Amino acid sequence: MTQDELKQAVANAALDYVVADRIVGVGTGSTARLFIEALSGIKDSIKGAVASSEDTKHRLEKHGIRVYDLNEVTDLPVYIDGADEINSLMHMIKGGGGALTREKIVSAVAEKFVCIVDGSKFVEVLGRFPLPVEVIPMAQSQVTRELICLGGRPVLRQGFITDNGNLILDVHDLQIHDPVELESQLNHIAGVVTNGLFARRPADVCLMGTDKGVVTLTAD
Ligand code: A5P
Repeated sequence: MTQDELKQAVANAALDYVVADRIVGVGTGSTARLFIEALSGIKDSIKGAVASSEDTKHRLEKHGIRVYDLNEVTDLPVYIDGADEINSLMHMIKGGGGALTREKIVSAVAEKFVCIVDGSKFVEVLGRFPLPVEVIPMAQSQVTRELICLGGRPVLRQGFITDNGNLILDVHDLQIHDPVELESQLNHIAGVVTNGLFARRPADVCLMGTDKGVVTLTAD
């Protein structure tokens, strides 16, 4: 199976986690886009969606799915999104598409986080994929220095502005042995909005596309 076919398989499988007559949280990226298309097939059975980016919002609306502002929503049974890397503890690196901050906010509200990935995203140690860090523009140089002190090699994502008007530094050369600790440490650097480690709130379930079919993983 091609990588796109594996993504399609997990996007379809994620429909089983969508709760009828409720709002669903929807992620960003190529796998999430396939999920949006799959979701459009059952759109009459849901109340609507909350989007983790402007791109996702527009795609949901194009399919006739009502998009709610997160501030209007108190209960969100499930959030469904891809990842750039995931380990056996369901810790993830996210933000390859630059939507990490809104993804983290929506997933924080959700009762369940369902991560949908093809098998290439599964790693033993996070960090091969450069860790995205969203930064307030005036803090770019200061945050860059701090990230170098932590052993990383930050590279400014050229020509990219987040939905929140900020910059992304992609941090290379990190071997992330304690994702929970590093997530907190990075968030304490003045000028960092969010980093792409999703370890303090890991996924609850990972649907992984493999040649043998969709495998369901949990941290337990
Ligand atoms: C978007 O900001 C990201 O967090 C994506 O969820 C992540 O990069 C996975 O994207 P793909 O599904 O395109 O691999």
